[in-house]
Amino acid sequence: MATERILIIGSNGQIGLELAEALRKNYGSENVICSDVRKIENQLEPFETLDILDQNNLHQIVKKYHITQVYLLAALLSATAEKNPKFAWDLNMNGLFNVLDMAKEGLIKKVYWPSSIAVFGPTTPSVLTPQYTVMEPNTIYGISKQAGERYCEYYHQKYGVDVRSIRYPGLIGWKSAPGGGTTDYAVHIYHEALKQQSYECFLSAKTTLPMMYMEDAIRATLSIMEAPADQVKIRSSYNVAGISFNPEEIADSIRKHIPNFSISYKPDFRQTIADSWPQSINDAEAREHWGWKPNYDLDKMTQVMLENLSSPMEGG
Ligand code: NAD
Ligand code: SER
Repeated sequence: MATERILIIGSNGQIGLELAEALRKNYGSENVICSDVRKIENQLEPFETLDILDQNNLHQIVKKYHITQVYLLAALLSATAEKNPKFAWDLNMNGLFNVLDMAKEGLIKKVYWPSSIAVFGPTTPSVLTPQYTVMEPNTIYGISKQAGERYCEYYHQKYGVDVRSIRYPGLIGWKSAPGGGTTDYAVHIYHEALKQQSYECFLSAKTTLPMMYMEDAIRATLSIMEAPADQVKIRSSYNVAGISFNPEEIADSIRKHIPNFSISYKPDFRQTIADSWPQSINDAEAREHWGWKPNYDLDKMTQVMLENLSSPMEGG
């Protein structure tokens, strides 16, 4: 089997840092090229500074490393995108076009591009939201993800591009910081619980959202990318479900380890975004087509988060 050469674009973000680690284990570190607009301390190598909007540099890097697969993670997330909607549209859409066009030209064999639960909107049925349903997102992030999904399917049907995608819920992990989303509270809360036994939440107590522990998300990503092409029947993006909970419930889960933990609520503009998203997801197609199944529930995730964040090596 020919060796895969993988380029991660946006490798220094919340998902990229963990995905790079997993891909390096599976494919060998020399075959996983990290890239981002910003370099970080302890930067994983090989690394290239790349602005995904710079098509020429993207071409050069793909040629230089004989890249076969691209994981495109660079994007503005929901909360940041609302503050800068024009740039969010430019980055989220033109970044995707630059990669899809290279795949169309045959310069890349396989593309991974993540979508989000943000493709759904206030008119979508919010409990166990099915794969196929009303989709009227009212955030610029959700609109860009929905348009991105349509383009992925179009490039697959029209040009045979092997593009694969998952609608991630809010992702929670201890190895990396979240990058400007509405679900970020569910990471911050663990750090603050350990630091000061209290947390002021920017969403209200009963705001239930679909979430997932990062290890499950990385496993889902590798599973869909490694599945035989004929099993990936949906080329827009797959629903995947992990855990659904609200701030009150995650606080209760934390109290099983830190009994005096307290939470207060001061909803801000992110509340409106959260209110437009589903509470839980039906992922029957992902389970049936490529065998998806989550491993983590809320309490299992809480235990792992607190254990790792409180270790002196990793401490948050
Ligand atoms: P993040 O913000 O943590 O990381 C994005 C990375 O992209 C950052 O390191 C940033 O420096 C880099 N970047 C920004 N602009 C760039 C550019 N012009 N060129 C190259 N790199 C650039 O985001 P994340 O949470 O890792 O999300 C990655 C992808 O997954 C995004 O498409 C996001 O929409 C999607 N997603 C994430 C979540 C989640 O909960 N984290 C949920 C659903 C979907
Ligand atoms: N976690 C992401 C966000 O809140 C969902 O796509 O923006």
